[in-house]
Amino acid sequence: MIQIRKAKVSDVEAIFDLIQLYAEQGLLLARTRESLYQNLQAIFVAVKDNKVVGSASLHILDKQLAEIRSLVVAEDQGKLGIGKRLVEKVVDETKNLEIDKLISLTYQVEFFSKCGFEVTVKDTMPQKVWIDCIHCPKLHNCDEIAMVYYTKQLV
Ligand SMILES: CC(C)(COP(=O)(O)OP(=O)(O)OC[C@H]1O[C@@H](n2cnc3c(N)ncnc32)[C@H](O)[C@@H]1OP(=O)(O)O)[C@@H](O)C(=O)NCCC(=O)NCCS
Repeated sequence: MIQIRKAKVSDVEAIFDLIQLYAEQGLLLARTRESLYQNLQAIFVAVKDNKVVGSASLHILDKQLAEIRSLVVAEDQGKLGIGKRLVEKVVDETKNLEIDKLISLTYQVEFFSKCGFEVTVKDTMPQKVWIDCIHCPKLHNCDEIAMVYYTKQLV
């Protein structure tokens, strides 16, 4: 059984290792252990048999905008629905905080589409979205796709 819960300090090494694995493949930005500790309250983990098998974090950018960051699922646990459950948790948290839009900068367009996100235009994102990009090796040739989830469904 998979449990999705808030991260604890004892989860940080496992979260760090998962992110590092995919950061080395250029799929997401690396995170320092320090940044994981500093943002621990905004990080969720997926736990299976007492082992962290996935993680995702919610980064608030402003009154109306948040970003899902560092979404990872262990390679041997892929395609079991864990990633989707982590995204749902982050979406719920975004709704609870009454934030209207949740964005993702990603290569995983099909996965995020299945989680209710839609592709949007990168240029419309406010400058603060790009602040962390200065740490990215792909700064000047970023090919990530911007996607958005609207927490308030229009009727
Ligand atoms: C992307 C990632 C989080 C997906 O996690 P996952 O647990 O395998 O995804 P799920 O099993 O919840 O998949 C949900 C749906 O998306 C589909 N899906 C998952 N990964 C996919 C992919 N790479 N391409 C196409 N569809 C994908 C699944 O088949 C499933 O479809 P279904 O609902 O029709 O059955 C995981 O592959 C991962 O950690 N990738 C490396 C890091 C990364 O790129 N993170 C995203 C950074 S923004």
